[in-house]
Amino acid sequence: MQRDLSIPRHVAIVMDGNGRWAKKRFLPRFFGHKAGVDALVRLIDACSVRGISYLTVFAFSSENWKRPEDEVSGLMGLVAVAQAKYLAKMAKNGVRIVVVGERDTVSERLRKAWAEAEESTRHNTRITLSICFNYGGRWDMVQACRKAVAAGLKAEQIDEASLSRFMAMAHAPDPDLFIRTGGEVRISNFLLWQSAYSEFVFTDCLWPDFGEAELDAALADYAGRERRFGGVTPAVPVHAG
Ligand code: IPE
Ligand code: IPE
Ligand code: MG
Repeated sequence: MQRDLSIPRHVAIVMDGNGRWAKKRFLPRFFGHKAGVDALVRLIDACSVRGISYLTVFAFSSENWKRPEDEVSGLMGLVAVAQAKYLAKMAKNGVRIVVVGERDTVSERLRKAWAEAEESTRHNTRITLSICFNYGGRWDMVQACRKAVAAGLKAEQIDEASLSRFMAMAHAPDPDLFIRTGGEVRISNFLLWQSAYSEFVFTDCLWPDFGEAELDAALADYAGRERRFGGVTPAVPVHAG
């Protein structure tokens, strides 16, 4: 059956605005991050029901280490909380989890949590959730180049296709729709390589408030876009994944 092209195959989201959501409620920022996890879990099902096969979210950037120590440790601790609360359910619901980002500089505990999340969901096929944690688009390009060199690729063998295979998101097609919540209109070092031809939707909605209605508004916006990929007529994305 032909896939409905008005529905993006891959949606990527910069989940921004947790801190402001908490501040509005006179709560510490951590409560915003906690509510953000719940919003994410609600959205996975909503995406899957609408025929989206890949959901990729920005959870912690390479630059988020600049935040106060208690916020950083709160975010790290939230991984275990989210895992205990949701992992079994996700594994049962057909969600495949892939964690994308630099692992060498996070704690052993976190590395174990990621390995467990990936291992217990690796056979699932309903939707692929890529969690970008300790991730940066520039980091990704650098690590891909390093891997290409380590694999013995010669300069003339390096092209867009060969380098793509070493990128951290090689398991997924490029995002069709890139959403940023929280009102800022910038990429903040998210999928720099992969978003070359993504459609962008920026919304003022703070991430913990992002639900089905906001998702549908973004999807309606996407459905009205004409994707040309540099050509002159509407074109279909050529997906690797
Ligand atoms: C996004 O929300 C979550 C992370 C960056 C971890 P913020 O924490 O950036 O929330 P605001 O932008 O300060 O409201
Ligand atoms: C981007 O949000 C990172 C994540 C959502 C994880 P930030 O809040 O860190 O981005 P800036 O600092 O506003 O650009
Ligand atoms: Mg922010």
